[in-house]
Amino acid sequence: MSLKRRLPFLRWSVLRMATGARNITTTGQIGDGREAAAVDYVLANARAGDIDDVLARIDEFAYEKSLLINIGDEKGALLDTAVQRAQPALALELGTYCGYSALRIARAAPAARIYSIELAEANAANARRIWAHAGVADRVTCVVGTVGDGGRTLDVLAAQHGFGAGALDFLFIDHDKDAYLPDLQAILDRGWLRAGAIAVADNVKVPGAPRYREYMRAQQGARWDTIEHRTHVEYQSLVTDLVLESEFLG
Ligand SMILES: C[S@@+](CC[C@H](N)C(=O)[O-])C[C@H]1O[C@@H](n2cnc3c(N)ncnc32)[C@H](O)[C@@H]1O
Repeated sequence: MSLKRRLPFLRWSVLRMATGARNITTTGQIGDGREAAAVDYVLANARAGDIDDVLARIDEFAYEKSLLINIGDEKGALLDTAVQRAQPALALELGTYCGYSALRIARAAPAARIYSIELAEANAANARRIWAHAGVADRVTCVVGTVGDGGRTLDVLAAQHGFGAGALDFLFIDHDKDAYLPDLQAILDRGWLRAGAIAVADNVKVPGAPRYREYMRAQQGARWDTIEHRTHVEYQSLVTDLVLESEFLG
């Protein structure tokens, strides 16, 4: 592994992210156009209709060009395994970004319908271009909105996309870290998760979702059964992270 892969602070695009931190929370993008550049790179270099190649080209862009805040290849493998465990017919993701993790979910669950909720219209547009190139646009849908909008976005899922009691098999949480727990609670309140459904949460250590982690610990063996995966922040091997994989016990 190259030194730059192992030591992320040697990369300009990583240092640039420090100044982009405020942009991420307000616009959902770093602020230097890297997300649109990533889409252009994928469309120019990945074989159309080849999910593996599209994912590989996104990872390549994140390693070699500019760092992206996708779940990445290492943590993505944990996501794949959790999806395969759930064998979902219906999956929901919170936080689309460039569409990378939804594409991994689509690859791991070829028969699933996948919905991804994203705050930023520009990210939704980028992700749709990636999914169309990978050939999954017929079963991966981005809904622009947020769970925390008083129920409007969840109402859209219920009214237009078949979300209902016990229908949801898999949930991937990867958006605003402070919203992990309230948004999970809002989904629980709808009764959408079936017993045995799996929820995966990224970045529980970095940037961190301590209330979500505390909740899962408090619910261990009662409502949820959680595995804490010790892993690394995306696209480097220096900083550690936690991914939580939780089975809903009903
Ligand atoms: C870490 S990125 C998601 C990465 C993506 N899941 C992947 O691995 O490919 C977080 C995304 O969540 C979006 N976001 C932030 N807060 C949100 C919210 N409250 N509701 C929906 N999306 C949100 C941001 O715009 C950004 O695109």
